Amino acid sequence: MRIVRGRLLHWPNNNWRLPEYLEDGVMLIEAGKIMKIGPVRAFVEQGLDLAGAEYYPGHLILPGFIDPHLHFPQIDVMASYGAQLLDWLNDYTFPQEAQYADAEFAQVAAESFISLLLKNGTTTAFAFGSSHATSVEALFAEADRHNMRMVAGKVLMDQNAPENLLDTATTGIAESEALIQRWHGKGRLGYAITPRFSATSSELQLRAAGQLSARYPEVWVQSHLSENRAELNWIQQVHPSYGDYLATYEDNGLLHRKSLMGHCIYLSESEIERFAKAGAVAVFCPTSNLFLGSGLMPFQALKEAGISLGMASDVGGGTSINLLETLADAYKVCQLQGYSLHPYEAFHAITRGNAAATELDDSIGSFQVGGEADFVRLDPEQIPLVARRLGGEVSLRDELFVYMTLGDERLVVETTVDGRAVYQSETAA
Ligand code: GUN
Ligand code: ZN
Repeated sequence: MRIVRGRLLHWPNNNWRLPEYLEDGVMLIEAGKIMKIGPVRAFVEQGLDLAGAEYYPGHLILPGFIDPHLHFPQIDVMASYGAQLLDWLNDYTFPQEAQYADAEFAQVAAESFISLLLKNGTTTAFAFGSSHATSVEALFAEADRHNMRMVAGKVLMDQNAPENLLDTATTGIAESEALIQRWHGKGRLGYAITPRFSATSSELQLRAAGQLSARYPEVWVQSHLSENRAELNWIQQVHPSYGDYLATYEDNGLLHRKSLMGHCIYLSESEIERFAKAGAVAVFCPTSNLFLGSGLMPFQALKEAGISLGMASDVGGGTSINLLETLADAYKVCQLQGYSLHPYEAFHAITRGNAAATELDDSIGSFQVGGEADFVRLDPEQIPLVARRLGGEVSLRDELFVYMTLGDERLVVETTVDGRAVYQSETAA
């Protein structure tokens, strides 16, 4: 059993305006689950002995961060100079992904990838693999070793990419199904059927992916949608018989409540309406959209249209795996469109919001009793400028805003997964 005492913050009602903040709170953790949470005085009144508690005054404890869109084989693609999406894929990304055909390479990379996630406070991720089943095997095995919640999928891609990365409509689906049967629901792992985007899948493959999705309704679908203007033109050339980009997924059974679509920058009014109706999730990837020069995702407009939203790093188009730094750019992208993303909304997004969008909020994303004990502990003293900025009387809103604007991995002093501290910084008090 662990008793953790400190400043606890989460969104038990899944309403970003209504956080629960326990200035001096206690969590009781047993067998990877949160057994009890409340203010310290409630525990004292009930006669619980807090002598053995881990006590972190000044630190802020939040549910583990959830990244609903990033690419495992792209950690070494980050910071590749000078290209927008399509050239970036061809010149940098595809050559890197080719290496993940090698099981040993993939296994070593999986160790680095997961240790990077944990160091940054990310306890759950939705990851694209490469088109090789080996990449996903390696990632699942490594996540399982940490008892970490991880959803991943082998990229489906049967056209318009280098030969050594292509599957076929038949082999791609067969490999995906074998991975589902082997890994989906094993421990804390889950599968996502992963057509890369419509340009690199034939109609036959998209249709087969949709049929697979219908056979496994509890499995997620992840892909990309409407990210870049040149991409939009290309999709039209590759799939001229479809009404628009969205229809390439929609008409093939790939657009539903379990579908996570990265980017969604240039959706038409009709696409927005159909997307909302399908209950699919639009995943905002601000650092990637800025870095690749893709454009400004209309976050507020999509939200007002009733679309469920996610907030993600999109490594390696993204420039940071850290979700605090992701929020910094989310704020700026929204500012450019006249919307000031509230710090509560921002931190809700990377915890409870992403959990709800992915239908995992019964298990993760908050400190509910019976929920899985994944959390992150932030220490403002680790960054001198942050400590200085928080020197006077600062509201919770402003404290969070400082973390998302000036924060980075240094703030993360502990990451707990399944009740166990799987990462502790060397300087952690
Ligand atoms: N569209 C198709 N593939 C990719 C990818 O790997 N990254 C991003 N950002 N967009 C894509
Ligand atoms: Zn992506």
